[in-house]
Amino acid sequence: MGNNFLKWILTLCMFYSVSGEGCSLILKPSRVVVGFGEPVSVSCEATRPVRVLGWESVISAAHTQRDLSVRWKVDSLIDWIEEPICYGVFFTAPRQCEEKLNLVLYKTPDSVSIRPVNHTGPMVEGKEYQLLCEVQNIAPVQYLTLRWYKGQTEVYNHSFSDLTSSSPVQVSSILMVTPTKAENGAQYRCVAELELGPEGPQPPPTVTSEPLNASVYFPPMFLSPEPEVLDLIVGADITLNCTATGNPTPVYSWQSSNPIQERMEDEAALTSPSLLPGTYTCTASNTLEKKSKQFIVKAKTKGV
Ligand SMILES: *[C@@H]1O[C@H](CO)[C@@H](O)[C@H](O)[C@H]1NC(C)=O
Ligand SMILES: *[C@@H]1O[C@H](CO)[C@@H](O)[C@H](O)[C@H]1NC(C)=O
Ligand SMILES: *[C@@H]1O[C@H](CO)[C@@H](O)[C@H](O)[C@H]1NC(C)=O
Ligand SMILES: *[C@@H]1O[C@H](CO)[C@@H](O)[C@H](O)[C@H]1NC(C)=O
Repeated sequence: MGNNFLKWILTLCMFYSVSGEGCSLILKPSRVVVGFGEPVSVSCEATRPVRVLGWESVISAAHTQRDLSVRWKVDSLIDWIEEPICYGVFFTAPRQCEEKLNLVLYKTPDSVSIRPVNHTGPMVEGKEYQLLCEVQNIAPVQYLTLRWYKGQTEVYNHSFSDLTSSSPVQVSSILMVTPTKAENGAQYRCVAELELGPEGPQPPPTVTSEPLNASVYFPPMFLSPEPEVLDLIVGADITLNCTATGNPTPVYSWQSSNPIQERMEDEAALTSPSLLPGTYTCTASNTLEKKSKQFIVKAKTKGV
């Protein structure tokens, strides 16, 4: 009963084995989820007298001709091996059978990074951009979900369950964004989550990218763009307020229809008493656009 006998048994197992119900082999546990480099130990038990019971695996193969149980044990699992198989050769029919261990060796990604595709610098409101999330060295990819967050809100998730690879791979996901001005300063993040089932770690392990700070350019906008009519009353202050929102911050210039109006400051608001009656045009501009707004200042005589 040497090597030849074992070879014969293995050959029998390959060709005539049954598995599942009636196999009389029980794996404890039947599914194992192991982190890269962690120990693993699974026992295979025969429920009736057995001639040979063993584990077929490229590492830690083992067999027994005495016992009703045999253990597959690795101190630090770092090999992307095929799932080990427990086989039994029995005295009575069915004489051979085997159970494959449901083994998941996982590895959290080395890195998760996020960047815009073909673009640098601020985005412009209303235009479409692509953000790319890249995940390096993850396994098994079919358990991976990539979640995209804007601030605290999940905006998109990408599952890779249609892929099959037990060894580490690199994957990526693209998020299409059309930013609005409200998204200026928003932070995008990408989170890689490994959902490995009830046998896996709880909560599922995650790796989060550095945030991508969105800078969104938008043209100057007045609170109310309509012309304003103001009465100039001697002794009372009036303010022409041209403040506009915009990114980059708008710069202002003023023009007056009154030729003797002295030089005006390049500020968002003009305040009497330096104002004379006339029509004032304020221009708020940034790198995207110039916007103008009119103020009509009327002289008002006391008592009228
Ligand atoms: C990005 O630019 C490269 C080279 O200019 C081009 O081949 C690629 O198609 C572009 N990708 C996208 C998504 O526009
Ligand atoms: C992915 O997002 C969809 C909606 O966009 C949601 O219904 C689904 O539950 C999410 N999937 C996961 C795994 O979170
Ligand atoms: C992004 O914004 C956060 C908070 O506003 C800030 O702490 C961080 O330094 C910014 N990151 C970059 C790359 O600008
Ligand atoms: C002009 O209006 C803006 C926005 O309404 C306000 O924040 C600002 O204080 C006003 N400026 C003056 C000088 O009144």
